[in-house]
Amino acid sequence: MKDSSTGGATTGAAAERELPLSQKAVKVLGNVCFSAFVLAVLVFTVVAIIYQPPDPWLDSPKAIISKSLSATLPNATFRTDDSVLRTGEDLIPLTAAGNSTAASDAVDNAASAPPTVVPVDCDTEAPINCSDPRAIDAIRRFNTRIFRRSIVFLSYETPVPGSSPGECDAAWRFRNRHEKSWRRYKDYRRFKLASGDNCKYEVVSAGKFRSGLNAAPKPPPPRASSSPAPPAQIPDSEINDTIPTLGSESDFRKGKYLYYTRGGDYCKGMNQYLWSFLCALGEAQFLNRTFVMDLSICLASTYNPSGKDEEGKDFRYYFDFEHLKESALVVEESEFLRDWRRWERTSSQKRSGKITVRKVPTYKVTPMQLKKDRSTIIWRQFDGPEPENYWYRVCEGRSAKYIQRPWESIWKSKRLMNIVSEIAGQLDWDYDAVHVVRGEKAMNKELWPNLDADTSPEALVAKLTKVIQQWRNLYIATNEPFYNYFDKLRSHYKVHLLDDYKELWGNKSEWYNETMALNNGQPVEFDGYMRVAVDTEVLYRAKNQVETFNNLTRDCKDGVNTC
Ligand SMILES: *[C@@H]1O[C@H](CO)[C@@H](O)[C@H](O)[C@H]1NC(C)=O
Ligand SMILES: *[C@@H]1O[C@H](CO)[C@@H](O)[C@H](O)[C@H]1NC(C)=O
Ligand SMILES: *[C@@H]1O[C@H](CO)[C@@H](O)[C@H](O)[C@H]1NC(C)=O
Ligand SMILES: *[C@@H]1O[C@H](CO)[C@@H](O)[C@H](O)[C@H]1NC(C)=O
Ligand SMILES: *[C@@H]1O[C@H](CO)[C@@H](O)[C@H](O)[C@H]1NC(C)=O
Ligand SMILES: *[C@@H]1O[C@H](CO)[C@@H](O)[C@H](O)[C@H]1NC(C)=O
Ligand SMILES: *[C@@H]1O[C@H](CO)[C@@H](O)[C@H](O)[C@H]1NC(C)=O
Ligand SMILES: *[C@@H]1O[C@H](CO)[C@@H](O)[C@H](O)[C@H]1NC(C)=O
Repeated sequence: MKDSSTGGATTGAAAERELPLSQKAVKVLGNVCFSAFVLAVLVFTVVAIIYQPPDPWLDSPKAIISKSLSATLPNATFRTDDSVLRTGEDLIPLTAAGNSTAASDAVDNAASAPPTVVPVDCDTEAPINCSDPRAIDAIRRFNTRIFRRSIVFLSYETPVPGSSPGECDAAWRFRNRHEKSWRRYKDYRRFKLASGDNCKYEVVSAGKFRSGLNAAPKPPPPRASSSPAPPAQIPDSEINDTIPTLGSESDFRKGKYLYYTRGGDYCKGMNQYLWSFLCALGEAQFLNRTFVMDLSICLASTYNPSGKDEEGKDFRYYFDFEHLKESALVVEESEFLRDWRRWERTSSQKRSGKITVRKVPTYKVTPMQLKKDRSTIIWRQFDGPEPENYWYRVCEGRSAKYIQRPWESIWKSKRLMNIVSEIAGQLDWDYDAVHVVRGEKAMNKELWPNLDADTSPEALVAKLTKVIQQWRNLYIATNEPFYNYFDKLRSHYKVHLLDDYKELWGNKSEWYNETMALNNGQPVEFDGYMRVAVDTEVLYRAKNQVETFNNLTRDCKDGVNTC
């Protein structure tokens, strides 16, 4: 990897420093424009996915954009941006709409269904019985009334007694209305019930998110702890992102694979990673091949507290591998290489069919030229210098007309979304949010002349008090590192910042246990990309959202004169 990057054209701050100032400005501006472009492309791509233009050959907005992209800035790298891309679950509506409504109505309607049988000999003094159908009925009605705009209730479990008479703990699964995926989250709360008219139960008061400890899912019994093996128990039992194995040798031989070696994208920003990865996956779909995927990714320095690029991050920390393997044909790289070697060994003994490999040294060989190739493995090698060795170049030019990036295959990690769900749940889904972008942009007065002043504590108080009611829960999604920066807002709102929820990824958390299990029992750091991903998703779930650009400042998101 070192070799390819030292030879590259765009390495190092040293080269950057040598540029005259004006050229540097042009370069920065160029990068900024490019990142704006990429975002625009994403939006268009998604639009394209949703609306499926009737003639993808002529009218695809993607084709137009890719053309202008490569015409304007063929050699640009992605500017590392603090923003997190919206992924499939943010953007692409559930396709199986019938299935969706069926599932949600099943439970929501239960609330308005005819009341459950009420005993004829009604005794209002009788103690509350949590397993009586009247208890769950009261809890359903209550939940539906309070939360139905934010979440969809999917299934309830029979309530169990709380800590004192009259209390019941109930557990249920829900889906967030803002999230366009099938994933389910759990909640369990403590309710105080009373017998009302006709002995119908009513909820008197309800506890906070996950307060019904007696109804909490029990962790699986610990296995005989003879060995200090990494915890194999997975607290969120709904996550199954184990690495699939290929099965028998002959299965391997029958498959057709597309294999990419690491290119210049390695250790670049996460947005470039996705842009490139989805190009590769798109090519695999176009060629009807299984994509050989490296689950080990390199997180760029900007997201790392250490300030250095860090290799060996698991794809599954950030994205949903379970969904990916269900929606696309992928096989994990080391599994693949092992099976390949095993086949080579045994086939030389048995003289059975050899594996054929087509090596493709440059992106200039297009996917269309490979379509007819019958080799078992098509191996793209990306040996050239940057930017020749970026994966996404495969999808440029004419190829853009043929390759669809499968955006719907990428969802954020369920483990991160559990944290999002828990923050929003602790606020009872009843909060407003403001996105305050500061950091480098606030410091760069040339491109963002007003941003710093417009996001000063005084300006925030002045602007927000006009649009958000006093004493609401206010979640602030921000890249401002100084925790007390927003203290002035505390005399108007109940302010919440991501760092208030540290325990959700601290060493007693589910997230900590689950990610450790993916990392051979070593703790995983909650890095900058995870922070931004969670922060942004919490923002999207707010009732009122105030954005930095458009709402707080007249400056443009991507610098002067870009909007
Ligand atoms: C971009 O790269 C190509 C080679 O891929 C090179 O011929 C061209 O001069 C470069 N353009 C700029 C503006 O650096
Ligand atoms: C809806 O469809 C998804 C994916 O097709 C499936 O996983 C889920 O179980 C379905 N739900 C119901 C209630 O049928
Ligand atoms: C509570 O209700 C359940 C279900 O109706 C019933 O089986 C159980 O006997 C009741 N328990 C008491 C103590 O009344
Ligand atoms: C997880 O999914 C794989 C298939 O991808 C399946 O073989 C395995 O049994 C599943 N494990 C659990 C615990 O559900
Ligand atoms: C794709 O490959 C599978 C098996 O690998 C085959 O069954 C299917 O017909 C192929 N589809 C196309 C469109 O070639
Ligand atoms: C968990 O973190 C706390 C505070 O950072 C630390 O004091 C404690 O030793 C840690 N516990 C474990 C088991 O790592
Ligand atoms: C995390 O794992 C430890 C040790 O296996 C266990 O004691 C603890 O209860 C787990 N925490 C959670 C939140 O699951
Ligand atoms: C923020 O700006 C958008 C676009 O200009 C506007 O639609 C929205 O109402 C604004 N929100 C607030 C809270 O002012």
